[in-house]
Amino acid sequence: MENVTLNTGNQMPLVGFGTFRIQGYEVIYQCLDAALQHGYRSFDTATVYNNEADMGRALKVLLPKHGLTRQDIFITSKLAPKDHGQDAEAAGLRSLAALDCDYLDLYLIHWPGKQGWKREDLRNRESRRQSWESLEKLKQAGSFRAIGVSNYTVDHLKELLAGCQVHPAVLQVEYHPLLVQLDLLHFCQEAGIHLQAYSSLGVGTLVQRDEIKRVAERCRRTPAQVLLRWAVQQGIGVIPKSTSPAHIAENFQLSDFALSAPDVEELSKLHSDTHYCWDPTTVA
Ligand SMILES: NC(=O)c1ccc[n+]([C@@H]2O[C@H](COP(=O)([O-])OP(=O)(O)OC[C@H]3O[C@@H](n4cnc5c(N)ncnc54)[C@H](OP(=O)(O)O)[C@@H]3O)[C@@H](O)[C@H]2O)c1
Repeated sequence: MENVTLNTGNQMPLVGFGTFRIQGYEVIYQCLDAALQHGYRSFDTATVYNNEADMGRALKVLLPKHGLTRQDIFITSKLAPKDHGQDAEAAGLRSLAALDCDYLDLYLIHWPGKQGWKREDLRNRESRRQSWESLEKLKQAGSFRAIGVSNYTVDHLKELLAGCQVHPAVLQVEYHPLLVQLDLLHFCQEAGIHLQAYSSLGVGTLVQRDEIKRVAERCRRTPAQVLLRWAVQQGIGVIPKSTSPAHIAENFQLSDFALSAPDVEELSKLHSDTHYCWDPTTVA
């Protein structure tokens, strides 16, 4: 599967492996083992997923098993919303230590607001500005190769771009045929920020939709492959999560078919502003 070149010059695989709700060393080990075997080279975690240490431990065993080194894979983690502000630098270093790495390929601010504060609390602005400064510092120090944000709206991005020293490389947001965030996509394209989708499968629910199944039958692929290909074909990264070895394999087999332009359009018309995760639009 192809890579995207980030604005840092680093390459990031367009298809990665999501690890939200995958916990416990044995489970993580088995999932990462299957993912590496089927070709995944990018792994998405976060402090709040509570699996960084198990991932780090599993990768130490799995990389040599698959004939790989740290440089062959791309690891993303994220700042927990509770660590926004003054605690951000220490929190970033804790992620690095938990994953037992010398560097992370990408580190994201997980959420634009601080945990425990109301969404409309204006202190969120100063707090995320401080967090970004810490991420810039850790990038400068070589701890992070690239830095970015998650769940930011166009307004959050404009505010960040107006005051940052280091341009964000990636925006990770919920994006699928029922949530086609075109304003955000176009803003990112113009600003040189790579948009990476999460919950591409609607946390598993979209694969059951008749409209998706119909396109899948036409393409002779599975609904999950159609949903992932729909994004990848538009240059949007994906990070499907699965604990099933068959699904893990299936979700990486995206490069041997393409959706027709009418298929892409038919899927995009399903947009209904549906969030399966969280909606950050009210965060000040
Ligand atoms: N930045 C953020 O705020 C944020 C928020 C949410 C997610 N994320 C990231 O994005 C990743 C993916 O999102 P997600 O975990 O919310 O959901 P997702 O990838 O949309 O869906 C995962 C669900 O789909 C099922 N599934 C996977 N492959 C399938 C297939 N081929 N056929 C049928 N069902 C399939 C999985 O079940 P099985 O395990 O049984 O296969 C699981 O229940 C996360 O793991 C995380 O890394 C980030």
